[in-house]
Amino acid sequence: MQVLDEPRKVQELTEAWRCAGERIGFVPTMGALHAGHLGLLARARAENTRLVISIFVNPTQFDRPDDFQIYPRDLARDLRLAEEAGCDLAWTPTPVQIYPPGPPTVVEVAGLASILEGAARPGHFRGVATVVTKLFNVVKTRRAYIGAKDWQQAVLIRRLVADLLMDLEIVVCPTVREEDGLALSSRNVNLTPEERRAAPVLFRALQWGAAQIREGRRDPEALRRGMAGGIAAATAAPLDYLAVVHPDTLEPVPSADPPVLLALAIRFSRARLIDNLLVEP
Ligand code: PAJ
Repeated sequence: MQVLDEPRKVQELTEAWRCAGERIGFVPTMGALHAGHLGLLARARAENTRLVISIFVNPTQFDRPDDFQIYPRDLARDLRLAEEAGCDLAWTPTPVQIYPPGPPTVVEVAGLASILEGAARPGHFRGVATVVTKLFNVVKTRRAYIGAKDWQQAVLIRRLVADLLMDLEIVVCPTVREEDGLALSSRNVNLTPEERRAAPVLFRALQWGAAQIREGRRDPEALRRGMAGGIAAATAAPLDYLAVVHPDTLEPVPSADPPVLLALAIRFSRARLIDNLLVEP
């Protein structure tokens, strides 16, 4: 596995691969790799002839400096896992390589960026949209793999790729969970033991909501109340939002007719967690 930081070098190498007829699968990450990331890498490995990972804790997508500071980082371990996952190239840029000094160019996805996660975390999706545009401009790939765990991010990236006419297929992979249902997240290490014990309630609440919908319940308000009640019984941590929305537009639905997405965010003491569940027709 090659490890490069210079964007120019990554462009040269991936361009050469592309010209040689290789199919490049690309998995952008912020490191602190876990089985969720490894799922994306395995899928991309199986579907392509070259596998590229980027590892970059993107400062512009953190709305709170303390969250950026405590975000877990372990590059040596990440590189070992990336190599074991069959990566041909790990791109580990520095902040100034991604953000040259001077007034920045930013990418703004209107609408989608200001609801749900965007409303709770001002500027977050501008940071995501800007960094993924840069990453896609450097790694000369036609296929990028992202996770359904960050559903809104996936919808936003698909929208961005379509709007900017990028020649790129976005493959969305299912959420990988712990045995007790907690969605794997780099931030889970920042849960207290007590919060970690309570955290599986998030997925249980989503599953409860999905079961209600499958049994024919359609009132979004009643679903939200029921799910929020289940969560409140297990933890005092406040919900940022608990939404019953259309999976493509992320707009609230008047009636929970599948396909419908149940999505939530909760603030534990040192980790803000998100999760979602798609209820299909
Ligand atoms: P990061 O949180 O490191 O996640 C990298 C990719 O892994 C994202 O596509 C995310 O959706 C996916 N992922 C995370 N946890 C997962 C899980 N439990 N199951 C399945 N997939 C999971 O998301 C980002 O980084 C950044 O915003 C990024 C896109 C790299 C831009 O900076």
